[in-house]
Amino acid sequence: MRNNKYNIKLRLNRSELAVPGSRIDFFEKAAKSDADIIFLDLEDSVSISQKSSARANVIEAVNEIDWRDKTLSIRVNSYDTEFINDDIEEIMKNTSSRLDLLMFPKVNSDKEVIKFDELVTAYENKFKRKKKIGFEIIIETTLGLININKIALSSKRNESLHFGSADFAASIGAKITNIGGINKNYGVLDGNKKKRTFFINDMWHFALFKIVLTAHAYGLRAVDCPFGDFSDELGFDFAARSSYTMGFDGKMVIHPSQINLSNKIFSPTEKEILEAKEILAQMKLAEKKGKGAIAFNGKLLDIVSIKQAQNIVEIDNMIKNTREDT
Ligand code: GLV
Ligand code: MG
Repeated sequence: MRNNKYNIKLRLNRSELAVPGSRIDFFEKAAKSDADIIFLDLEDSVSISQKSSARANVIEAVNEIDWRDKTLSIRVNSYDTEFINDDIEEIMKNTSSRLDLLMFPKVNSDKEVIKFDELVTAYENKFKRKKKIGFEIIIETTLGLININKIALSSKRNESLHFGSADFAASIGAKITNIGGINKNYGVLDGNKKKRTFFINDMWHFALFKIVLTAHAYGLRAVDCPFGDFSDELGFDFAARSSYTMGFDGKMVIHPSQINLSNKIFSPTEKEILEAKEILAQMKLAEKKGKGAIAFNGKLLDIVSIKQAQNIVEIDNMIKNTREDT
């Protein structure tokens, strides 16, 4: 089971759709989509000249649009920009309690999050906001990945750690320009000089692994990066399957065509659910008989199998129950 000692609200996060704050024509469509979370963006999809109009659009959209059962988030600008203070103040002052989350990009250190928490707490009190805002943190800089442990622990509002591969690539000086996905020059050539085979490696593996590891250590959700080539359905499918298998809760998506695919991949299959329930039943029987480990379908099960099976059942329950709005 997820390590939820920090009492973090459980939410589905299989697909998290990015919607540029300057594109009001996309808002209604996003609300009608099947994305689990929508984030209205004030950061990198919005040009400098549109920063303040996008902020006004997003505030109005939070208050006016029927977002149905979706979790609603706003991605603000990063700590070192001239926009961040106004973003937080205006959002906290003018949005209704329909807003669930704030997403912070390019977080470099725990100090930034501590500052955000102080500001958000002060405004929550000042404007008598009823619902406590949660935080989503994007790890997408060298320092962010180095300081990830402290960042994860920096605020009780933290709910999720996200990977931002595009910014991360820029931050480490990677010689690529795509957003997410495989890079054909990153890999190894085997030692057989007669018949050389090149094996592509996943250059984001270390960052992804560190994020999933830290998120699970502190009971946070782990959310994988966007996959920019939205015409490559198979590429998205493989990238998402790989992060689902690794323990990620979902993926950020940059195009509506990726939503249903992401929901499907990050939902346990009927076979996985049945097997998980069977494992829990078998382990309960084993416990009654005083056994820690048993054989099931030719495989060894032990206490850890309970945790793995509970993870699957827990996510299935969330998919079946609709979101209770608070
Ligand atoms: C997302 O923000 C990214 O930089 O990939
Ligand atoms: Mg980014």
